[in-house]
Amino acid sequence: MNTAGERSYADRARDHLWMHFTRHSPYFDGEELPIIVKGDGCYFWDENGKRYLDGIASLFNVQVGHGREELAQAAATQARELAYFPVWGVAHPRAIELAERVASLAPGDLNRIFFTGSGGEAVESAWKLAKQYYKLTGKPTKHKVISRDVAYHGTPHGALSLTGISAAKIPFEPLVPSSIRVPNTNFYRAPEHVADDLFAFGQYAANRIAEAIEYEGPDSVCAVILEPVQNSGGCFAPPPGYLERVREICDQYDVLLIADETITSFGRIGDYFAMSRFGVTPDIITCAKGLTSGYSPLGAMIAHERLFEPFKHGTNTFLHGFTWGGHPTSAAVALANLDIFEREGLNQRVKDNEALFLQHLNTLRDLPIVGDVRGMGYFYGIELVKDKATKETFSEEESERLLRGFVSKAMFANGLYCRSDDRGDPVVQVAPALIAGEEQFEEMTQILRSVLTEAWNII
Ligand SMILES: Cc1ncc(COP(=O)(O)O)c(C=O)c1O
Repeated sequence: MNTAGERSYADRARDHLWMHFTRHSPYFDGEELPIIVKGDGCYFWDENGKRYLDGIASLFNVQVGHGREELAQAAATQARELAYFPVWGVAHPRAIELAERVASLAPGDLNRIFFTGSGGEAVESAWKLAKQYYKLTGKPTKHKVISRDVAYHGTPHGALSLTGISAAKIPFEPLVPSSIRVPNTNFYRAPEHVADDLFAFGQYAANRIAEAIEYEGPDSVCAVILEPVQNSGGCFAPPPGYLERVREICDQYDVLLIADETITSFGRIGDYFAMSRFGVTPDIITCAKGLTSGYSPLGAMIAHERLFEPFKHGTNTFLHGFTWGGHPTSAAVALANLDIFEREGLNQRVKDNEALFLQHLNTLRDLPIVGDVRGMGYFYGIELVKDKATKETFSEEESERLLRGFVSKAMFANGLYCRSDDRGDPVVQVAPALIAGEEQFEEMTQILRSVLTEAWNII
């Protein structure tokens, strides 16, 4: 009960709320469930008035920071005017304006915008488009997709099939067949023969894609999907030449290159799309999150104009869609969000500050538990190891005790919300709002230092 005699939110949550990707037992065993009630800038507050630094932009979402009045206004204005209408056989101004605007920001001829409600739905849409496109253009057997180890692409059955994290998939098997895994670009764990040469490692990793296409049969493969900077496993940037080589392989075998930019788009890597920063144009981009800075749900599949060609005339239809795809309120919020990006030069801000951010995080390398610090833009992973010299990682039991049992809770208790993840080797990830600056880098690094120092002592 609180002072007003009402049951607490934590008690009420325990009775009815099913949280996502959440182990519920601690909250039935007496652990306190944090209830977040307010956000402002790079910070948020819980119901007890405690302030936290949002070190991960609330799941890589809140690019422009919390509490932006103009985004709230954009949503309210649109909801009053036209709260909802689908884009099924009709259209509305905000979806049209946003499609135009996103097309103008996307690289190359990626001009066709298919809105979704989320990143997973965008990935799902991309695979379905790739399959149907080849069916309509005389290569009907192309249907398999190549994705990378430890990558996360979402939870719908198709997107989950492309995900490279066994633990997330096994409970839901059988999944969609026809997805094949290749190495990601984790240079810290590069095979020995390319461990000293970043370029050679990139070529090695890219060439495994060609090998997989050959093995499966080029006539059976429709797409390769990858994140330009892979989140899961801890922020793997592409080695120089890697994306260029992947592009070349996709062209050689007539396979579509899908860049899953659910996290890396809208400033996270210092450009509207990370692929633009790397100078390689994919055939499809999937995005979500930062498109609205999380103020309203929206995702998009952005396709090269040639992939739309078969649907332009005659009776062909992409028989696929979502009720919430292109939601007017979300589209209005996205437009206002992009206005903020432009006005405040957020992409340039990230590029200007990334070296300073990394410099702060790199000071943690003297800690015995810190094996690697990697990433770019406002997107970094700190890999935790048991032995720096050998790069030995923690056992499952140690990782459970370390990450779930201590690091996550201690960060939060110390006022830092960031992510500790053991879907690959154990990492802590930081990815603040793009308005963060030196004050936040310093605060983050101090808390990380104190918690990781303590973590070493409890192993
Ligand atoms: C790369 C990537 N793809 C897809 C998804 C799924 O997005 P959503 O949760 O919006 O469905 C995520 C979510 O974090 C992601 O990081």
